Amino acid sequence: MGSYKIAVIRGDGIGPEIVNEALKVIEKVGERFHHTITFVDVDMGGNATDKYGVSYPAGTAETCKACDAVLLGAVGDPKWGPDRPAEQRPETALLAIRKDLGLFANLRHATLRPALIDACPLKNEIAAKGMDVMMVRELIGGIYFGKRERYETEDRGVECTDLMAYSEMEIERIGRQAFELAMKRQKKVSSVDKANVLETSRLWRSVMHRLAQEYPEVDYEDILVDNTAMQLVRDPSQFDVVVTENMFGDILSDEASMITGSLGLLPSASIGATAPGLYEPIHGSAPDIAGQDKANPIATILSVAMMFKYSFDLPEEAAAIEAAVDKALADGWRTADIAKAGETVIGCKQMGDIICANL
Ligand code: IPM
Ligand code: MG
Repeated sequence: MGSYKIAVIRGDGIGPEIVNEALKVIEKVGERFHHTITFVDVDMGGNATDKYGVSYPAGTAETCKACDAVLLGAVGDPKWGPDRPAEQRPETALLAIRKDLGLFANLRHATLRPALIDACPLKNEIAAKGMDVMMVRELIGGIYFGKRERYETEDRGVECTDLMAYSEMEIERIGRQAFELAMKRQKKVSSVDKANVLETSRLWRSVMHRLAQEYPEVDYEDILVDNTAMQLVRDPSQFDVVVTENMFGDILSDEASMITGSLGLLPSASIGATAPGLYEPIHGSAPDIAGQDKANPIATILSVAMMFKYSFDLPEEAAAIEAAVDKALADGWRTADIAKAGETVIGCKQMGDIICANL
């Protein structure tokens, strides 16, 4: 019977639609388990640029820090594309809020939901072995936040650099997160790097080896990023916790999500040492289907389940949400992204209603 305050960033594109469904689920869980939950709306992304001229208005981080958790739909708007000044681009806001809240660990949970084995693009015999991968992505370091430069050369035209830097401290705190998670799961950690080429990866590996000694129960492996990409489609059932740096994690988590059948299914939690966690689907704002009631709200709803589990320490509520989602899928309800030819397709709002009814 707790009391929780959630900052809500609806964002751009399909963001507002999927967030609406997630809010319905939160309210339903609040009723059923007798929690008092309040919401604070926060503008961020392309919609904020429309309103205020900047995608990350002053005070955004402070408002979020005053809450117990942050729910984010999606940001991204082609109107404010890569050619625009940084302060107008939605992605700038996303990186800034991650950094300002110190959200160094991004947990992306890729599971093959039982009712959707058919949606998995891998061969049946591979899919049948199942997949339950917790991808642990470092979120506020590496090439995403390194120094960038653009300059004229005398003979090669313009040249640019993006610096990838990692410190022992940054590697150790994400590594520890991965080992701690593994202890609560199947006790396996696969640490992904490119140590045959990159110095940052060699440091990464040595810090991980040090940590592995502290967790003798955990079955630990080093695995190169290119091999990981291949192993994920060859046999994803071999992985439990996969820990990696920022950009490798960005790429591998999209690959993992597609194996689950749709980008529309994968939730994520971004957590730091102290600040409120941020919960968002791993997919983007999908401007092409925005406002048409076609989006799949499941990734956002499952992100809410992660919020209850990781930020509020309420695993029972989290399990109830997951069960409600699984029941909707088992009963055959499908949004367009996960429907097979001939299956009846429902919209975003109806999927939300069905999941709420299951609660
Ligand atoms: C993600 C997204 C972002 C990232 C983009 C939108 C900056 O792809 O959350 O995975 O690369 O982190
Ligand atoms: Mg990404």
